[in-house]
Amino acid sequence: MKQAKIIGVGHYLPDNIVTNDDLSKLMDTSDKWIQERTGIKERRFIKEPYEQSTAIMGFEASKMAIDRAGIKPEDIDLIVFATMTPDYYFPGPGVIIQKLLGIGHVGAIDVRAQCSGFMYGLSIADQYIKTGMYKTVLLIGSETQSTALDLTTRGRGTATLFGDGAGAAIIQASEEEGKGILSTHLHSQGEFAEKLYMKTPGTGKTKFIYDGIEKDYDNIFGYMDGQLVFKNAVVRFPQAVMEELNANNLSLDDLDMFLPHQANLRISQFAQRTLKLRDDQIFNNIQKYGNTTAATIPILLSELWAEGRIKEGQVYVLAAFGSGFTWASALIKW
Ligand code: UT7
Repeated sequence: MKQAKIIGVGHYLPDNIVTNDDLSKLMDTSDKWIQERTGIKERRFIKEPYEQSTAIMGFEASKMAIDRAGIKPEDIDLIVFATMTPDYYFPGPGVIIQKLLGIGHVGAIDVRAQCSGFMYGLSIADQYIKTGMYKTVLLIGSETQSTALDLTTRGRGTATLFGDGAGAAIIQASEEEGKGILSTHLHSQGEFAEKLYMKTPGTGKTKFIYDGIEKDYDNIFGYMDGQLVFKNAVVRFPQAVMEELNANNLSLDDLDMFLPHQANLRISQFAQRTLKLRDDQIFNNIQKYGNTTAATIPILLSELWAEGRIKEGQVYVLAAFGSGFTWASALIKW
């Protein structure tokens, strides 16, 4: 059976930096509150006239990943696009990327697994490569959160957390035994579907567009039971790391780096303490970008790649948790 390897990663972030102080001009919040509860200092928002979008940021990240992988767009034989903030209600952004990159008529899969979307996509790419069906997969995680946030005091519980950005990876078949993506695990717990969700646009139990929708607050902005999400996340991250290590007969001593989805610095620190990881075994960048949902993990990977910190033979565990609830992980030996 073939192995699947990440051979290039890229990312893209809008230039527009929005600090906590900028948000405190729009709502009753403070730099102190946001930093103490989340670790976030600033995030990026696309801005009017909205020349950027989820697909366009994904395109920019893809170009960097393709370049770093040393391949050409025409080498890609499958596109997997993870997002919870697509440009259109339909079609998904996978086909827009195909158009922008000028790739031939390859398949384009859109993944709806929210914060876990990139990890779900990595598992999909891994399976297609392992079975030999595809050789080179472009995987994207991209999000435009800013245009759907309630940037008033009413929305401060969620609006202060999220940011825009994109990351991408090229995953390719390899003959090298024991290297690359060694395992992935996917989980979900639908009983909590409505504990972190956005009802509209949707077709369920509400008319898609009707007069007065703005009056129905829960319909037009996301809802989050923050404390429930927090309590579940701090349990699921350590579980996910141990599940990956156990599946490969490895222990925490073998782990070089844990890359957690960037939802809240306190969640990452909690997981770090539970697993007794050194500071150099975990990487966080939420301070600069906030929670970019499906994009956080590829952005982390791309920054590490740019800094030359990913070394051959190192063992990484990547894990995400979010709306659904969904959580997913992978163990990679570089
Ligand atoms: O990828 C998954 C996405 N989501 C997450 O991972 C989120 C997980 N949850 C969390 O990170 C935390 O629950 C939050 C950071 C969202 C909130 O922290 P918390 O400690 O759970 O705060 P809280 O919601 O219980 O609110 C505490 C207080 C409330 O005021 P009162 O009722 O005590 O007077 C809120 O109204 O803080 C208030 N508050 C704020 N104050 C200033 C809530 N948001 C803000 C804000 N600025 N932005």
